[in-house]
Amino acid sequence: MMELIQIKDLKVHYPIRSGFLNRVTDHVLAVDGVDFTIEKGKTYGLVGESGSGKSTIGKTILGLEKATSGQIIYNGNDVTKRGVRKQTKYNRDVQMIFQDAMSSLNPKKRVIDIIAEPIRNFERLSDQEEKKKVKSLLDIVGMPEDALYKYPHEFSGGQRQRLGVARAVASSPKLIVADEPVSALDLSVQAQVLNFMKRIQEEFGLSYLFISHDLGVVKYMCDNIAIMTKGRFVEIGTREEIYTNPQHIYTKRLLSAIPRIDVPNREKHMQQRREVEKEYSSLQKEYYDENGRVYDLKTISPTHQVALKHVESEGV
Ligand SMILES: Nc1ncnc2c1ncn2[C@@H]1O[C@H](COP(=O)(O)OP(=O)(O)OP(=O)(O)O)[C@@H](O)[C@H]1O
Ligand SMILES: [Mg+2]
Repeated sequence: MMELIQIKDLKVHYPIRSGFLNRVTDHVLAVDGVDFTIEKGKTYGLVGESGSGKSTIGKTILGLEKATSGQIIYNGNDVTKRGVRKQTKYNRDVQMIFQDAMSSLNPKKRVIDIIAEPIRNFERLSDQEEKKKVKSLLDIVGMPEDALYKYPHEFSGGQRQRLGVARAVASSPKLIVADEPVSALDLSVQAQVLNFMKRIQEEFGLSYLFISHDLGVVKYMCDNIAIMTKGRFVEIGTREEIYTNPQHIYTKRLLSAIPRIDVPNREKHMQQRREVEKEYSSLQKEYYDENGRVYDLKTISPTHQVALKHVESEGV
């Protein structure tokens, strides 16, 4: 395993201010101690309910939010420090794709300027060279050359998402944080965007941090997955481990809630879902401590960890 970036005991707590003096009275524990490693050329999925802290992790990796504590290790440096990010190639190596390409692409700029912007930040190219590079980026995301001089509003949602990807890969990054990149798109367009994200990954040896609440999409895209709730990981594992051998009731509930088109087995799935719900309500104590917080992760296999009070080690 070739690791690209390592997140160690990351915490991001936001102060809550209140009262006449606007004093800090409490904190939102948006991210409350998570550890994981993103490997080179692989996709790491973050899944969980709304407000569980997924975007906060992504933003902190990008340096858009400040870590309260913990480390993010990239090439041996702790990039939670702004100075370190500036001194190294980090800001170039880590880019982002947004959920809503319309609001992330400057509406007043033409495509050539939008896509060239990250290149201009990092290298000096002649107009000729720059145009050539932007054309090749458009080609990579399957957009025609005549897009160069158009504006974002002249494209469909799926096309804009392609432009967002072209822009993200312009600086030849090593990691792209993709926060719900297809959630705003129609199903058919989703598949197209996901497929060219995969193609680009192979071509450039990119890693993705792929954030989504859609377990179907995550299964298609991700090599490793973390399931999150309330700022904590409840289970991490390979795709196979999460989908075929989920251990935490929270994971099981998410999986049993995936809509299925499989009509003949509908009754069986309904039955499974009812069992999961029963287990969830009867075994609360097994899964959450007295403060309703999930337990620390325990190891099941070298790649599979789950937040249970006790685990039986399987064939160790
Ligand atoms: N700037 C902020 N100040 C205070 N609280 C914040 C801030 N940003 C996020 N939070 C809180 O931190 C928690 C985690 O938010 P986050 O956006 O990371 O969740 P998420 O998992 O991405 O949710 P969603 O699926 O809805 O995008 C939430 O309770 C949110 O209200
Ligand atoms: Mg989010």
